[in-house]
Amino acid sequence: MEEEPLLEERLNDVFIDSKLSQQKIDYARKHLDRLKDHHFPTYEHSVRVGLYGYKYGLKDSYEPGLLLLAGLTHDTGKSKLSKEVLNRAPGEFDEKCKIEMRKHPRYSHMLLEREKELAEISLRHHIYQHENSYPEVQPSTDKILKYAMAVESIDFHDANKTRVPNGKYPGNGSITDEERMNLAIKLMPKIEEVIKEFYKLVIFS
Ligand SMILES: [Fe+2]
Ligand SMILES: [Fe+2]
Repeated sequence: MEEEPLLEERLNDVFIDSKLSQQKIDYARKHLDRLKDHHFPTYEHSVRVGLYGYKYGLKDSYEPGLLLLAGLTHDTGKSKLSKEVLNRAPGEFDEKCKIEMRKHPRYSHMLLEREKELAEISLRHHIYQHENSYPEVQPSTDKILKYAMAVESIDFHDANKTRVPNGKYPGNGSITDEERMNLAIKLMPKIEEVIKEFYKLVIFS
């Protein structure tokens, strides 16, 4: 796993490069700080998803700053889940844990109330896994769905790449990025094109 200072330095550089307003940067930092205090691995994951998002945004038709912020804040609702739930691997989830975990997009939506686009994207960052999508949500605009698809593609990549392999998913070191991409497509066929673009432009470039 990456050392924290390196991740922090990369985030600082990207914030400068993004030309986001200080207000937006402070807003993202406030959410990251809360996660950092509550569950460090989720904080690191959120920073990495934001950094991947920025890079993807620069190479494709996204606003890089918005994809950066969406990645940084997508899991902010996990600050409301117990550490016991957060420390479990998906393969070890019992029914109660699963119900708890599935609340986090709604918590993110609630915590991000002030930034409507981020709130709406975070609510939808798990809606494309064909056997495991959640929560049930109302239709949204093309823009929100486009960013939700991008965050979900990146999210799966980072979570899978950094996760200890378990009964449910192969994880860090046990599969190649190409196999990881194919697994993502198998689990989320509706967003195959977005997944392929992300791997082509960010992971394989
Ligand atoms: Fe999530
Ligand atoms: Fe995530």
